[in-house]
Order: sequence, then structure tokens, then C-alpha cells
Amino acid sequence: MKIARVLVSCTFAATAIASPGTPVKLSVGTATVSLAAPSGTPSQLASGILYGVPFNGTSIETTIPSHFFTDIGFNLLRSGGAAFTEPNRGYSWGVSEYYGRFDAALSNYRTARSYGADYIRLPHDLWGIDFAPKVMPGANGDWTSYDQFLTQLIGDIKINGMTDGLIWDIWNEPDGAGFWTGTMELYYELWARTYALIRAELPSTPITGPSIAFGPSASNPWFIGWAAFVGTNGSVPDIYSWHNLAGSEDPKVTLDYFDNTIRANNGLPQKPIHINEYGPYDYQTPQETAWLISRLERLNMVGVRANWAKGGSNWQALFNYLANLLGPQTGSPYYGAGEWWLMKYYASMTGLRVATTSSTDQVLEVFATRPTSGIGAHIMTAARGSTSPYTIQVTGLEALGLSSGTIQKRAWGFPYNGVFGEVDGPIDYGVETHMVTGGSFSFDVYPSTSLNYAYGFDLSV
Ligand SMILES: *[C@@H]1O[C@H](CO)[C@@H](O)[C@H](O)[C@H]1NC(C)=O
Ligand SMILES: *[C@@H]1O[C@H](CO)[C@@H](O)[C@H](O)[C@H]1NC(C)=O
Repeated sequence: MKIARVLVSCTFAATAIASPGTPVKLSVGTATVSLAAPSGTPSQLASGILYGVPFNGTSIETTIPSHFFTDIGFNLLRSGGAAFTEPNRGYSWGVSEYYGRFDAALSNYRTARSYGADYIRLPHDLWGIDFAPKVMPGANGDWTSYDQFLTQLIGDIKINGMTDGLIWDIWNEPDGAGFWTGTMELYYELWARTYALIRAELPSTPITGPSIAFGPSASNPWFIGWAAFVGTNGSVPDIYSWHNLAGSEDPKVTLDYFDNTIRANNGLPQKPIHINEYGPYDYQTPQETAWLISRLERLNMVGVRANWAKGGSNWQALFNYLANLLGPQTGSPYYGAGEWWLMKYYASMTGLRVATTSSTDQVLEVFATRPTSGIGAHIMTAARGSTSPYTIQVTGLEALGLSSGTIQKRAWGFPYNGVFGEVDGPIDYGVETHMVTGGSFSFDVYPSTSLNYAYGFDLSV
């Protein structure tokens, strides 16, 4: 079912003038956009995808039309060949069960590279840890088959020329029962062995980890233990990584704990950070995604969109639909679901990033860019789990050449039509004129009662 745009009325007002009989809604908080405070060139930090790309033998796969990738600034794929059944359960079931998974990962790698995207390799998938009963590397102190596995995999990577844009993710979610059933000590041993071998054999390949399911916190012994281990062991990764998958999780909170407590306590250096799975299962809507993207951009964290394979019994949905950004679930042609259009707007935000603040209650988030010259801006916003009115205050227009006068603001809505639900495009709420004084103006946002919308605003003179 398509969204019927005509049913959606304009929910924005430039001023506080209420219609007769309409109660005045008071703004409960203010987010800010500082156009005079640039913070670097935008690079769509959160345009990565987990799985979500079909296979074609070992070749580039072209079933999903290329514009669905390029329009959203697709720049990072995290994949490995999970979920294949017998006779492709992975190396732990014998080398003959490894090739099918390797070939699938090679096809994914080539497709990613055809778009210039980097590729995060997931060796745990090639080992086949997703399959039950689980065979743990190093079980009973015997590392022979795991060492042979790494040797095979590294050799195949070299033979197939897979080193450009490659990132090695040592082991996914050691704290999650789905991917590790051994002790922490066994995991540390796997970490150190793998780290040493990758450094020796693929010295220019960045290593990432620990890719733990829950972010750093005082109640996460896996993260704390891992940090202490790599600190003393001298096996700190090039990119720290963890997931942001619990409903209330906040990358700012986990990053603060990581920087101020975990790194500080263990003397660990600062490195880039990947949230290499973001988006809780029940929250993958334009609203939550815009909130998370805004957060990741401000914190300079790279994001890979989580993939919940919402295809139900059709596990191959895991390797399609760009992690639920597209539909329909069966047949073709493809169309964009609600968040695909949000990601497209996000990718159109070129020029310069600018400093922003969320509302003090952290509910209204904003991400904003401005052109490198001239007067204008793009602002993406969403109120996390709220339908209360909020204010966005834009300052610094004088630095762009507009101290006073008028500015035009076109407003867009990004609706949600369910998982795989077709959306034809953003809702165009039209243009309003605002008065600028002292290089500043503000306007109110009235989030949709459906709780799922994100919004975009384009400023121009
Ligand atoms: C699969 O790969 C072959 C080359 O090996 C190519 O000719 C074909 O177009 C590809 N098919 C799809 C659907 O991408
Ligand atoms: C790191 O851990 C591995 C595995 O336990 C061990 O072999 C190696 O000696 C350790 N390195 C250092 C510097 O402690």
C-alpha cells in the first residue's frame, strides 16, 4: 500500500499564531544549528549497510538497480556469507562447506567495490558460527583447525585481490550467545592469535573490534575485560567497534563511557569508531534513524545500518533490500521504503557540516549542512519517541551574507509505511518565509502523531 500524500496535512507553522479554537502548543525544547561553525566535509558517515546485497556466484550483482545504492551514498558493506545451510555451513564443518560462503562474500565484496564502498569482512560467518551446534575455535585448547581456517581465508583473499577497501572484523558479538559460547579467556586468545596473523599477512588491512552487541558501560564485563586485555596484550585495533541495538541505547552515552572510563583506565589510544550495527529492531523508522544519524555525525562515528532479516522464514531477505531500505519483499521492481528516502535526503546534504546541538532533553536531534559559498542550508531532524512541539534555532546566517532580511524554508516530511512498505517520496509541505534578524531565526517543529516521521528543511534566499 502506498502512502496517500493528500491525507497528510501540513503540521508546521512559522509563527505561534493559532487558528481560532486551536489551543496554542508550547515548544518544550530547542535544538540549534550554527551555520557559522563548520565541522568538515560531510561524508555520509552512517550510509553503511549490514548484508542486504544479493549474490551472483563470485561476480558483481546487479539485480538492485544502481541508483538505489548511489542515491543513498552507500559507502560501506559489512558482510561475510551467513545463514547458508548444508552443504555450506562454513569452515568449522569442513573446508568443503566453506567455499560457498567464501564465494558469496566475494560477490558481495565485488559489488561493494563497484560502488567504491569499503568492505568489512566477517570471518565468523565463514567459520559458520551461526550454525548449531556451534563449534568453537580453540575448543579444548586445540587451535589447529582455526589456524588452518585463517590461512585458507587469507590465501583466498590474496588470490582474489580482495585487499583494497578491506577491513577485518575479528569476531562478531562475542558477548552474544548466537555467536560465541566459549569463555572470555577463549575469546581473548582468539583475538590475539587473529590480530598477530592479520598484522603479519595483511599488514595494510585495518583491524576492527570488538563489535560487541552491547555498548561500553559499567555493566558490560565483556567490553571492560576486552579493553584491559588488548591494552596489556598490545593488540589494540585500528578501529574500535560496537553495536547500538537496544531500544534506549544512545551512542553518546556509550562513547562517553568508552572515552572517559574504559580508554582512560587502560591507557588506550584514540582511534576511529564504528557503530557497525545501528538501529534497534522495533525502531528502524525514519524517526529513529534520523535521530541516530544526527548523533553519529556529531560524534564523528561511522554507522552501519543493522539488518534484522525481517523476511521471516525467507532467510535470503538478509541478503537483499539493502537491510530493509527497499521493497517489495517478493518480486520486482524495487522501490524505496520510508527510510530509503530519508537516506537519500541525507546523501544530498553536501557542502560543509555545521555544528548543532540537540534539545537539552536529547529528544529533538538535528544534522545540518550548508553550501561552501552562498546562502542556504539543509537540516535533517527528528524527535525521538515524542510528538511534542520543539523549536529549531538557526544562527550564523551573517557569516553566509545574510544579517537581516528574509529567508525561504521548504519543509519535507519522511513518512514510514511499515517494513518493506512503499513510499513514493518525501511529503512536500511547501515553502514559508522567515524574518532573519542578527543572522538568526527560529521555527517550530510539530512531530507527526504517528511517531515515525523525520523531517528535512532546505533554506534558500
Ligand atoms: C552475474 O554475473 C555475470 C558475470 O559473471 C553477469 O554477466 C551477469 O549480468 C550477472 N547477473 C546479475 C543479475 O548481476
Ligand atoms: C598476547 O596474547 C597472546 C595470546 O594469549 C600471547 O601469545 C602473546 O604473548 C600476548 N602478547 C603480549 C605482548 O602479551
